[in-house]
Parts: sequence; structure tokens; C-alpha cells
Amino acid sequence: MKQETRIILKNAGRIDPGSIDDYIAAGGYEGLRKALGMKPGAVIDELLEAGLRGRGGAGFSTGMKQRFTSKGCLECPRRYVVVNADEGEPGTFKDRIIMEQDHHLYLEGTIIAAHAIRASRGYIYLRAEYHQSIERTLRAIEQAYEKGFLGKNIMGSGVDLDLEIKLGAGSYLCGEELTMLESLEGKRGNPRIKPPFPAEKGVFGMPTLVNNVETLANVPLIISKGKQWYRQFGTERSPGTKIFTISGQVNKPGHYELELGISLRELIDHLAGGMREGKAFKAALLGGAAGTFVGPVMLDERLTYDNLAEKGATLGSGAVIVMAEDDPVHDILHNCLRFFRHESCGKCVPCRAGTTLLVRESEELRAEHPDKDGLLQQMLREAQIMASTSLCPLGQSPVLPLKSAAKYFADELTGRGRA
Ligand SMILES: Cc1cc2nc3c(=O)[nH]c(=O)nc-3n(C[C@H](O)[C@H](O)[C@H](O)COP(=O)(O)O)c2cc1C
Ligand code: SF4
Repeated sequence: MKQETRIILKNAGRIDPGSIDDYIAAGGYEGLRKALGMKPGAVIDELLEAGLRGRGGAGFSTGMKQRFTSKGCLECPRRYVVVNADEGEPGTFKDRIIMEQDHHLYLEGTIIAAHAIRASRGYIYLRAEYHQSIERTLRAIEQAYEKGFLGKNIMGSGVDLDLEIKLGAGSYLCGEELTMLESLEGKRGNPRIKPPFPAEKGVFGMPTLVNNVETLANVPLIISKGKQWYRQFGTERSPGTKIFTISGQVNKPGHYELELGISLRELIDHLAGGMREGKAFKAALLGGAAGTFVGPVMLDERLTYDNLAEKGATLGSGAVIVMAEDDPVHDILHNCLRFFRHESCGKCVPCRAGTTLLVRESEELRAEHPDKDGLLQQMLREAQIMASTSLCPLGQSPVLPLKSAAKYFADELTGRGRA
């Protein structure tokens, strides 16, 4: 039986999350102490060689991103670190767990990351509905200032960092890094065109490192225990653990920290208590609304960034929404499309018109229609056009659930499978 491998969540439920002394007694801020004794480039190399990949969804190399940011706009007077704590992807609540139960861990990771790229200012862009996360992170920041882990001359190293919280106002799109930067500058949450990337020109035009909460929570562990230690978890190209959030038709929905490379079957049967009422597994939506459906043939595939990408699926944020034999896939697909229509900022036509059109066609797919096969093909073509012509990743996303649902469940979606 597979068990949880708790490295990120090792303190959760074991220490008083409100006490910085408890965190320190459990080895906290050792990674920071060590990092401050290292050159910024050495910190980046350690993370690069540990193979840490961003946990916000895209799985991009964290060390590489830090390297780009540390080299971006050398003449700029300031650099920033921004923590993406917006957590808007449906079915995802892993950052909340870290922020509520071990907030000093990601704070420590943020300070180390700031040292690596020589940032002197930082923001935590935190979802406004996460009241407890806000309250606890605010307190943690205060405590870190009191102990000299934030502010001027951190632990006598000569490194300075000021960190503050900015609250997101509930827009899914503001979780997208460039839109987040606009929002941080006090502007409307519309995306920016890239390039330039945040590493070159981020918040207030300065080089900016944007990282997810879970990504940053890995950083102190890698620095204090080393890349070799870290690489014992996960796989060669997807090292470490991932916090999966599983919901839907399983007996024990919740969050589970597991080594990357576990299979969906193991996640469901060993951790999540199996399928509810003994029903058969039909499908899972991996990675939230901007994710992909997978069918039973994928149950034994390894959940890693590369393996899933090779199979046309996504790991994304680690959300897993499970459907049983009698759940209509169309219902979830329709909800994803409605979600995109609701969250589209309306700035560009392909997404503004396309998301509305897809919802209407999805309704037609559910009702009576003379040519459902043709309708589904038309929706796929439209979503593909949106993917290649929309301004930002939101408009490029509806094709993911739509195409994967059509791959596994075309008969059901078009009514061909009915007697
Ligand atoms: C529409 C949209 C919403 C996003 N929402 C989030 C989010 O809530 N949290 C997050 O960490 N990343 C989110 N991302 C990904 C970020 O743009 C970015 O890739 C991430 O913060 C980078 O951090 P990482 O390298 O540590 O993963 C979103 C992306 C898109 C396109
Ligand atoms: S793709 Fe959608 S969300 Fe992105 S800019 Fe265009 S309208 Fe806005």
C-alpha cells in the first residue's frame, strides 16, 4: 500500500502553526541560515540540480527561472519576488493547506528565493477569500520581522527584504502571473503580452520572480538537506513530492502529499479510500478546469509532468476530480466551459466570443441536435482556433478539457453510446 510522503507537510498537525519558535525548534529557518552563507548563484545551482519544477501548474524549472530573473535587466535599481498565493484553479486547495498549517515554510522559501535573485522587495498575492491564510501569513510576517528574518540586514548577512501581502479580488485570471503583476500595480486584471517575461520586466517594470506557494515551500528543504536528499523522492525528471487534492466520487477526498510518479489508481485506492459505493471509475479531470480528462486506460500511468504530457494529459496544479461510472462527463465539461466564459476578461475577441459560443454549443450537445458528431467536431475546431489566437493562456485553455473529453468519451458526448 502506498503511503503519504510528507516532506512539505511534515509539520502540519505537529507544531503550533502560530508559533515561530515551534517552527524553529522543528528545524525551521535552517535553510535560510545556510542560504545566506551561500552566494546567490550557488543557491540557484542547488535548486537547478535538485530538479525542482514549479508547482503552480506549468512545471517550469524553478532554478532556471531564478537564473533568468537574476540576469534580467542588470541596470534596474530593484528586483522583486512575488508569491502566487491566488489558488484559483477549481478543485485545488493545496496552497491553502500550507498557508494555514505551516506558513513559515513558504515564507522561508520566499526569503531564500529573494536572496537568490537579489530581490529587496516582495509581495504575497493572496486570495482574499482565504481568511485564515491571510491572518496566519500576516502574523508570520510580523514574527519574521521580530526575529530578524525579514527587514534590513537579515541575520547579519547584509541582505534586505521587505515583504507584504496584497489581496486578490477573486478573479481566476489574476492567478496568471502577468495579469497578477498588473493587479499588483493597482490596475485592472487584464493580461500583458509576453515577451517581455517577468524575469526581464515584471512588477513596476523591474525583474520579478513569480513562484507558487508550494514551489517555495520546497526551497528551504532543498537548501538545508541538499539536492541528493531531495532527489531520492519522485522520478528523475519530476523529483520531489506533490500535494494532490482529490475530490468527487472517492471515499476519502482531501489532500495527500505523494511522491511524483504515483499512479492514479494508487492515489484513489491506497490514499483516497477507493471509489464511493464501490462504483467503477469512469474518468478523472486532472489539473482543474484548465486540465484534461483521462479515462480508465490512464489509471496506471505515472503522475509526472513528462509522462502525462507525453500521453496528452496534464498534472497542472495537482487537482484530481474523480467521476464514477454513472456520472455524465458532459456535466463537468459544461461546468468547465461555463467557468471560462465567466472568467474571460473580454479583452480579446477569440476568447470573449469563443467562450460564449462554446457554452451555447455545449448546451445544444446536451439537448436535441440533428448532428451531434458534427457539432462536437465544430466545437473542437473553434477551441483550437481560440488556442492559437487568444491573447493569454485563459483563452488557450478550453481546448484542453474539451479535446480530452472528446478523446475518451466522444460516444457519450454525442449520444452514440446510447441504446
Ligand atoms: C488563468 C491562469 C490562472 C492561474 N492561476 C494560478 C494560481 O492561482 N496559482 C498559481 O500558483 N499559479 C497560477 N497560474 C500559473 C502562473 O501563471 C505561473 O505559471 C505560476 O505562478 C508560476 O509559479 P511556479 O513556477 O512556481 O509554478 C495560473 C495560470 C493561468 C494561465
Ligand atoms: S484570452 Fe480571454 S482572458 Fe485572456 S486576454 Fe483574451 S479575453 Fe482576456
